[in-house]
Amino acid sequence: MEEVFPGVFKNNGKLYTKDLKTKDLRYWNPYKSKLAAAILIGLKTWPFSRKSRVLYLGTGEGTTPSHVSDMLENGFLVGVDVSFMAMHEFLKKAGERENLIPLLANASFPEKYPEDIKKIKFDVIYQDIAQKDQVSIFLKNKKFLRKKGYALLVLKARSISPKQDVKKLTKAALKPLRKEFNVLEVIFLSPYSKDHSFVVMRNE
Ligand SMILES: C[S@@+](CC[C@H](N)C(=O)[O-])C[C@H]1O[C@@H](n2cnc3c(N)ncnc32)[C@H](O)[C@@H]1O
Repeated sequence: MEEVFPGVFKNNGKLYTKDLKTKDLRYWNPYKSKLAAAILIGLKTWPFSRKSRVLYLGTGEGTTPSHVSDMLENGFLVGVDVSFMAMHEFLKKAGERENLIPLLANASFPEKYPEDIKKIKFDVIYQDIAQKDQVSIFLKNKKFLRKKGYALLVLKARSISPKQDVKKLTKAALKPLRKEFNVLEVIFLSPYSKDHSFVVMRNE
């Protein structure tokens, strides 16, 4: 078993994280988590430390957030989702993990987040929101990222239009992103998630 990043283990081509409480290894499925897919494809920049404060936009049921939670020994993850159904499932995971903070909110309106959350300067912002205006939602949340903090953005081409090509979408998205961030890596997530790319940036 090799530790490829702090708290991320690899064995026979498969990824695992270690449950903080039980210390059991948990299989991390790259078909269900775009972060796991990016690692297997060759992600070089590691944005998380054991004490990172993470703002996660679009938790879904919490698959990826639960694996990130495993890595945050002294940090925490604020998980935002607009869907009651997704939040219902995410709440179950947050109930078992002290470092997950659920927030039912629309990431398009960050000014409506609770005051306590708005005060935090996060070390990492991660967004996985399948919406047409995914880039502008992301840019609206940039104000919560500390200087030198990392920003990870999952782009989904089909959310723009059914025929949208992921390479074209990514090229177009990179224009406004480069004005705000230093773009470090762009990873296309095929074969794990065909119409997605994964952009790694730093707030210089
Ligand atoms: C692809 S799923 C997330 C999967 C999750 N990131 C994972 O890897 O386990 C996208 C989520 O974004 C949420 N979402 C869509 N628009 C949103 C918005 N404006 N604000 C917050 N969440 C949003 C959806 O409700 C959905 O749960």
